[in-house]
Amino acid sequence: MTPNNQNFYNYLSQSQAKLNGFLDKFNQSNILVVGDLTLDEFLTGEVERLSREAPVLILRHEYTEQIPGGGANAVYNLAKMGGKIKVAGIIGNDAQGEALKHIFEAVGIDTTGIFMDPKRPTVTKTRIVGHARQSVSQQIVRVDRKSDQLPDLDLQMQLADYITSQINQIDAVVCSDYGDGVFTEPVIKASLPHSRVIVDTQKALHRFQSVTLFTPNVPEAEKAVGYGIKDENSLFQAGKDLLSLTNAQKILITRGEDGMSLFEKEDNEITVAHIPAFNRTDVFDVTGAGDTVVAALTLGLCGGANFFDSAILGNLAASIVVRHFGTATTTTEEMKETLQVLLEDNLLK
Ligand SMILES: Nc1ncnc2c1ncn2[C@@H]1O[C@H](COP(=O)(O)OP(=O)(O)OP(=O)(O)O)[C@@H](O)[C@H]1O
Ligand SMILES: [Mg+2]
Repeated sequence: MTPNNQNFYNYLSQSQAKLNGFLDKFNQSNILVVGDLTLDEFLTGEVERLSREAPVLILRHEYTEQIPGGGANAVYNLAKMGGKIKVAGIIGNDAQGEALKHIFEAVGIDTTGIFMDPKRPTVTKTRIVGHARQSVSQQIVRVDRKSDQLPDLDLQMQLADYITSQINQIDAVVCSDYGDGVFTEPVIKASLPHSRVIVDTQKALHRFQSVTLFTPNVPEAEKAVGYGIKDENSLFQAGKDLLSLTNAQKILITRGEDGMSLFEKEDNEITVAHIPAFNRTDVFDVTGAGDTVVAALTLGLCGGANFFDSAILGNLAASIVVRHFGTATTTTEEMKETLQVLLEDNLLK
């Protein structure tokens, strides 16, 4: 273990009771998530034979799975961790939109702020997955449904009005921007007045000025600053440049298997704190790990944890979901158990 990791391990073991205390408060927070909502679909079947119509496989359909994706994954993660969640977003007039609403309502999420756009489909990514008898499954093709148009202005305004009506009743706003059209100017403007705004956006971070925290991954951070993050120096420079570009209080760059780095500015001095990844073995699928980070750290902040401890909670939650296939969720119980095992077996190597 490097000296840095040893220090971090010591901090973590001293902080276990405190972190568990924050986890116990996850179910007390009210969060509004404004997000680009996606439905991830998996249609799975067994290969039956080759078609006579074309040189393609014929699958016998076995089952269909539907799970929240994109910003909907952030929403779902927050709810599974116990938060009281309201969602503001847009679906199409279709079965996929209905499915997404049902999935949300089944776990107690308030969907009053989901508006239906008759002109644009629910963003849906459908994977066709095939397997031969007694063999592993494999994705064959993916079909995406989405529109390149923005929602009409009156729909943008309805969404913005809903956000404004909620802003005084919640502990935090999470903006989960996957670039699918929810974050127009009126919607951004309505989301910013809260004192705790956490933004996860794939591009143009400067549209969200003076928020609490951004959580870009490395490619997003690189795109925003216009250069590569290759070493400690360029990482530090990127954190610094992102702080001045956005005037945010903090920047958390999530760095995949390298963990995450938290940047802040105090008295014109930039400081950075690094958190190593908590689990680097048995990593199956990192899709959606960023949404999990946002969910846990937001609930941490709302429960009174500082930014560093909240980021640790985000890192802990992410270390669990990367062991599952597809976008996944975790619970506070699982997070507590994982923290215990992490400390017992010292998995920070
Ligand atoms: N290969 C990995 N091994 C261990 N931990 C990982 C790995 N990949 C991701 N993580 C954990 O998940 C966190 C977020 O990952 P990452 O930086 O890839 O987010 P992301 O690209 O925004 O994800 P997405 O956009 O798919 O939700 C990391 O900070 C780390 O804690
Ligand atoms: Mg992300």
